[in-house]
Amino acid sequence: MTSNTSKTGFNSSFGAIMAAAGSAVGLGNIWRFPYICGKYGGGAFLLVYIFFVFFIGMVLMMSEFVIGRRSKEAPIRAYATLCPKHTSWKLVGLLGLITCFLILAIYLVISGWTLNYFWESLTGTLSSIPINGFKLHFNTFASSAVRPAVFIVAFLIFTFLVIVGGVQKGIERVSKLLMPILVVLLIVMCVRSLTLEGASEGVAYLFNPDFTKLTGEGVLAALGQALFSLSVGMGVMIVYGSYLPVDDNILKTSMWITLCDFFIAVLSGVAIFPAVFACGQEPTGGPGLVYEVLPVVFQSFGGLGTVFATVFFLLLSLAALTSAISLLEALTAWLNKNGMRRFSAALLISVLVVFLSIAASFAYGDADNAKTSLSNGIWYDIKIAEMSIYEFLDKLTGTYLPPICAFLTIIFFGWVMKKEDIMDELSNHGTVKIGYFNVFYYFLVRFVAPVALLVVLVAGIIK
Ligand code: PFF
Repeated sequence: MTSNTSKTGFNSSFGAIMAAAGSAVGLGNIWRFPYICGKYGGGAFLLVYIFFVFFIGMVLMMSEFVIGRRSKEAPIRAYATLCPKHTSWKLVGLLGLITCFLILAIYLVISGWTLNYFWESLTGTLSSIPINGFKLHFNTFASSAVRPAVFIVAFLIFTFLVIVGGVQKGIERVSKLLMPILVVLLIVMCVRSLTLEGASEGVAYLFNPDFTKLTGEGVLAALGQALFSLSVGMGVMIVYGSYLPVDDNILKTSMWITLCDFFIAVLSGVAIFPAVFACGQEPTGGPGLVYEVLPVVFQSFGGLGTVFATVFFLLLSLAALTSAISLLEALTAWLNKNGMRRFSAALLISVLVVFLSIAASFAYGDADNAKTSLSNGIWYDIKIAEMSIYEFLDKLTGTYLPPICAFLTIIFFGWVMKKEDIMDELSNHGTVKIGYFNVFYYFLVRFVAPVALLVVLVAGIIK
């Protein structure tokens, strides 16, 4: 493993892998991947997903690492440094940072909910709720004004403190500690889930290939999920790339991060769905799964339910934390490189993002709630393009912005940057043999990835 003596970057390749894998492994792996995997054909979906993750997601990650390490800059200036003749490419960096900001805002809402559920499991509140009361409990909590906001702020404070600690002493150290803990907690959950009676139905839901369920929509969902899950397209990996040790092997590092992200997504499925099926619950994803279905599953574990609920919500909070760290770091690094002190930069971004995040939380709700006794957030009725602030942010960050940013990034990389510079960086100035890989890689960068991204984008807009 390589090491770096510079204080501004990661200290070792291992630290870099843990930090970037920390960014990649997040809510997307745990509450989204397993559900869409089962929904769109289990093993059949997995095959497509593996292709996208390794041939498009990982290629984008390598590209961002190269842009970052070559320029030693944060997103906006990175583009200007690598292409001084056409500085309008800087706008791609800017769009990426705006996307990071918006993702962070919505990510904090969900992270705040998760932290609250961790707290409620720890203090026993969750176990005192009747088995049919979880939907109402979540709705009452999420649509209230004060409590979600308190937990958003608390979560943001943790994130802020890590960023202020710096790249090595904050991000790298925390990731090296949290990622292994996360894997251990996940394995504990898997063992519990797999040993329940009736678990095999959940395993079948996840892995049995059913090609009839693999629709066009499923293929698009696979690519969207691959990008989101690997945190690529918005420039976070450009920033982490600028922190990579000079002699780090970008191909190997990207491979480890991608493998780690992929296996944690699969393990999450194994931790969740066998238990969901064993308890006779319906498979679902998102908030419905985590805050309404899983608490029922935990209660059915009897006495140990509280322990497993606490472990699970801790796991989810930690996964969300290392992802939120990377988003806040991308924005902080940009201001920092422009001369602002790290502390002030992180504080400024935090203050700005917390307003948007709390506004989104106030606007959480569902049109169906009006027909039942469930309530909506106090700002649910404020609409942008017929959507609440929460839905609007969710749509922008879930459907439109990531593929746009990813598409522009790969076009810049494949068609604007010099091939010799790319190969020089990938081969560590000729010291690492990349052989025929460069031909294959360049083909993916120039043709396969842009076309796939364009298809996702157009399909998302037409839908
Ligand atoms: N990869 C994270 C997840 O799967 O939850 C989310 C994420 C983090 C997306 C950072 C984008 C990003 F820049």
